[in-house]
Amino acid sequence: MPLTSPRRRARFHPLTVSAVRPLTADAVEVTLAVPEELADDYGYVSGQYVALRKELDGKEIRRSYSICAPPTRGELKIGIKRDLGGVFSNWANDHLHPGDTIDVMSPTGAFVSRHSMTSLNDPQAIAEESRGLSRYVAFAAGSGITPIISIVRSLLEANPEAYVNLVYANRAAMDVMFVEDLADLKDRFPARLAVHHVLSREQRLSPTHTGRIDADKLRSMFGTMIRPEVVDEWFLCGPYELVQLIRDELAAAGVSEDRIRYELFTTGDPKATPEGNAGRAVVADPTGENVDVTFRLDGLEGRVESPKSADESILNAALRVRGDVPFACAGGVCGTCRAKLVEGEVEMTENYALEPEEIEAGYVLTCQSHPTTDAVRVDFDA
Ligand SMILES: Cc1cc2nc3c(=O)[nH]c(=O)nc-3n(C[C@H](O)[C@H](O)[C@H](O)COP(=O)(O)OP(=O)(O)OC[C@H]3O[C@@H](n4cnc5c(N)ncnc54)[C@H](O)[C@@H]3O)c2cc1C
Ligand code: FES
Repeated sequence: MPLTSPRRRARFHPLTVSAVRPLTADAVEVTLAVPEELADDYGYVSGQYVALRKELDGKEIRRSYSICAPPTRGELKIGIKRDLGGVFSNWANDHLHPGDTIDVMSPTGAFVSRHSMTSLNDPQAIAEESRGLSRYVAFAAGSGITPIISIVRSLLEANPEAYVNLVYANRAAMDVMFVEDLADLKDRFPARLAVHHVLSREQRLSPTHTGRIDADKLRSMFGTMIRPEVVDEWFLCGPYELVQLIRDELAAAGVSEDRIRYELFTTGDPKATPEGNAGRAVVADPTGENVDVTFRLDGLEGRVESPKSADESILNAALRVRGDVPFACAGGVCGTCRAKLVEGEVEMTENYALEPEEIEAGYVLTCQSHPTTDAVRVDFDA
């Protein structure tokens, strides 16, 4: 099966919140009940995420949250950390209660172990494929632990030969999400899991575990507790700068790109904030200076004219005629809006989501793709 398989077309359904558990003073774990008739739609692989949709102050908000537990039929768990000044994360921490319903998109995302790619939703097959592949390293910062804890647990449970080194960076001990779950995991797998908490604003015994993770600290880790040359797969999830720094240091240490999986929650760029270019009002140019945008979605063809002067994204144009065109972050981070470009050319502003293989196969992020030819055609079903 091709690498792109974990990205299936996602759809929203209302799900009921069955539990809310405080993780820290600023984060909650939300459990969503999945009814049996939707169980197949909400099957997932560790590392994938769902988008939540909510109308707040008359405005539709969509935000993505990684699933923080290994695949479990009948439920989904996500961890939501307050973002200072953030609209949805603060609303969710303050107002989501058991019994509430919220629109949840079916799981998607490609931040999954390469070794589980060919065995979507089949733990047995994952176990078989993982045999012999045993050394994994995960770096998480802050809420970046959510997909990582699911991946780490799945790897340890599925493969008795898996050994995982987890480096988890936070400001202080009180910010550490899933602190008890990580301790339980360590108790279950004492010889196969090492957890290194790095705290930027608290003194720890070892200098490697104190302060911000920078290039020097990484080099010192790579010389001691982690030996990059023997690691089969790396998982990185955190802010853009940290993920980029680790990728650079891994490249310098000779680690090949195809062993590294990473996920960004945000680019740190205010231009890429959620509502950026999805749903912006644009009117076709009566003088005829328009781009012809055609797309296929769920087997149906849609067509819309996009004024050249507006330089809008394909997603923005397509949303004018079909409200169910898939997107979540609208910032080039999550990959939900992916489609295959089958005619014409586009310029992609940002891409933090597509793998090189997907680009080569002709996939684009429609939220970031601006047509550079008079006509473009994309296929969301491909
Ligand atoms: C694939 C994926 C998985 C994710 N998984 C998780 C997860 O598991 N857990 C988790 O907690 N988060 C996760 N996120 C992040 C999450 O989707 C939200 O981005 C996050 O919760 C913030 O949303 P918000 O509505 O609270 O903040 P927003 O309102 O979107 O604001 C975000 C930040 O930008 C600032 N801001 C907003 N507008 C501007 C502006 N115009 N100029 C400058 N600054 C501005 C705000 O003050 C705030 O700090 C994930 C994101 C992605 C893409
Ligand atoms: S909607 Fe997230 S990358 Fe386009």
